[in-house]
Amino acid sequence: MTNTLLFRLDPAAPDAALIERAAAVLHDGGLVAFPTETVYGLGANATDAAAVSRIFAAKGRPASDPVIVHLYDLAQLEQVAANVPALAYDLARRFWPGPLTLVLRRAAVIPPNVSAGMDTVAVRMPNHPIPLALFSAAALPVAAPSANRFARPSATTAAHVLEDLGGRIDVVLDGGPAPIGLESTILDLTKPVPEVLRPGGIPLETLRELMPDVRLISRQLQPDEAGIEAPGMLLKHYSPHAEVLLFTRDTATVIACMQAAAQQRAEAGQRVGILTLDAEAAYFEHLPALLFRLGTDLPQFATNLFRGMRELDRQAADVILVHMVEPTGLGIAINDRLLRAAEGRIMEC
Ligand code: TXA
Ligand code: MG
Repeated sequence: MTNTLLFRLDPAAPDAALIERAAAVLHDGGLVAFPTETVYGLGANATDAAAVSRIFAAKGRPASDPVIVHLYDLAQLEQVAANVPALAYDLARRFWPGPLTLVLRRAAVIPPNVSAGMDTVAVRMPNHPIPLALFSAAALPVAAPSANRFARPSATTAAHVLEDLGGRIDVVLDGGPAPIGLESTILDLTKPVPEVLRPGGIPLETLRELMPDVRLISRQLQPDEAGIEAPGMLLKHYSPHAEVLLFTRDTATVIACMQAAAQQRAEAGQRVGILTLDAEAAYFEHLPALLFRLGTDLPQFATNLFRGMRELDRQAADVILVHMVEPTGLGIAINDRLLRAAEGRIMEC
């Protein structure tokens, strides 16, 4: 066990002395968790293979699952990636700092274990003052997966990080809740046609404006097929302990179906949880169920989704019911995370 230090920082003006201490931990090969605009990350010096291997140990993450390298300055791109295409610079200038991860050819300075032995590297620049200050103070590229135990919902607050990784990492920088709440969009530029390996914070429609031929790879791999593509595609991922039941059809049908399922599960002795948009909460209030309100629109749904899963787990829900959302904009990423949490199953209505 490690004594995990918690530093509270104001995102608008991160305390320089605490940032320096965290940067020194990165230099010494230690692990520092930090907020980003998407979810919390668990960082190590991306040029230090031993430090990177500590990330895998702390998370319980298989070595076959590569991690993203985070930058604070566009000039680092040619240091961590090789043969960077012009398209990568166009995308970086438009979307960085921001929730877009680019898969490129790996440069020699990045050790193979960052990328699970592959010759590619995933790179992004987070749009959050705390990691930008941290990386710049350390003057390092920082390898960082989401700061959760493997296959758990990503951490969107410092409390989630401590819940999963307290005693296993050196420092947590608490900068409040992560605003977007879902991970970055991953775009593979090493393929003949750009491929979205994971839908995320940058909507697909926005990428299509620049790259009309971009493809969304929505294969949902079984665990034994992992190690190829993005293992974030593993079907079971982002999972609460509770079983997740998904519903999709016209709203009236879905609501009737969810009400019936909640009743039936409760009568069978299960503790039922429901994650819902505020507008639909009234349909579920009379049921024997724990209600978690996600907010009024898709951005709020995204921000609160992982928090809701963790909160219902904390209240010992056996089963969590969710109405899937419209598959446009952030809705594509939301449905992707819901499907993974539900291991791909959708309820028949
Ligand atoms: O928003 C985010 O992307 C957050 C924050 C912390 O930056 N990070 C994050 O990391 O979600 P992680 O490790 O939980 O998910 C990264 C995904 C994994 O599914 C991994 O397979 C994929 O990125 N990935 C990393 N390197 C890759 C590579 N070289 N080729 C293909 N996929 C890669
Ligand atoms: Mg993750």
